[in-house]
Amino acid sequence: TGTLSASAARTGRIFGAAVASSHLTGDQQYANTLDTEFSGVTPENEMKWETTEPERGSFNFAPADIIVSHAQSHNMKIRGHTLVWYSQLAPWVNDIATGSELLQVMKNHIANEMGHFKGKIWYWDVVNEAFNDDGSRRSTNNVFQQKIGDSYIEEAFKAARLADPNAKLCYNDYDTDGINEKSTAIYNMVKDFKARGVPIDCVGFQSHMIVDQVPPDYQENLQRFAALGIDVQVTELDIRMSTPVSDADLQSQADNYQRVVKACLAVSHCNDITVWGVTDKYSWIPQYFSGQGAALLFDDNYKKKAACNLVIQTL
Ligand code: XIL
Repeated sequence: TGTLSASAARTGRIFGAAVASSHLTGDQQYANTLDTEFSGVTPENEMKWETTEPERGSFNFAPADIIVSHAQSHNMKIRGHTLVWYSQLAPWVNDIATGSELLQVMKNHIANEMGHFKGKIWYWDVVNEAFNDDGSRRSTNNVFQQKIGDSYIEEAFKAARLADPNAKLCYNDYDTDGINEKSTAIYNMVKDFKARGVPIDCVGFQSHMIVDQVPPDYQENLQRFAALGIDVQVTELDIRMSTPVSDADLQSQADNYQRVVKACLAVSHCNDITVWGVTDKYSWIPQYFSGQGAALLFDDNYKKKAACNLVIQTL
């Protein structure tokens, strides 16, 4: 018994969910579950560039504002997601001719979007998914890397600090949950940023995982980043399995979620666990990973799954 948010609050942590404005306004049970169980929100798509600046210099914050005002009226923390990302980028950005112009476009985007939400955002994912699995910079389809080069990341963080000095600033990525070439490259970047005074406050570990494949060194990885003097957050947690589901997989999923929660609790600077959706009903997984699903804590009927009960008990 109890709720995710109340249990997390006992150690000063936030338990959040990715939220879609359409479901928030269109599905009462969705809103009720969010309000009862969660203390944080991340807009699932509403703060991405294709939505917020679909044409150059014309900004649309209406969908995100729905989520932000709901969160504020329910005393929830808000994670801003995300300012600079190669994906879900407005197409026009890919047509900017030179690196120097693109840098201005990027800084302008950050200033406008962070300016609009100034004072309301707890942590911002300033840059998302900038590395390849082998630790090199992601260049494929990434106009920022191609036209500006490695420095776009630090330029983005500097612009972000100026735009909202009270917001904490994160670098966010996936498949970085264990110690591997990708997470080590990010670790080295953060270490370098700290040494040179480039503003960064946090690394987000998306943690899109597969049942029975939680990296054994998950906690050790969080710990080494925290030791650099930053916060660490579990930003997009889901643990998927083949569908239709088996009881055995649901039990393993509960154990796996518990491992993640224990890892975060063991690291004092891990202050947030956010799952990537309120309910399996609307999870992104079935659409992106064919034959997979059931990755979240509430089932299609908003019933608490075994994983949810174990998370509450463990927090
Ligand atoms: C996903 C959303 O959940 C989907 O609705 C959308 O179609 C694609 O993006 N990493 C991220 C998130 O940082 O923004 C992605 O969200 C999932 C992977």
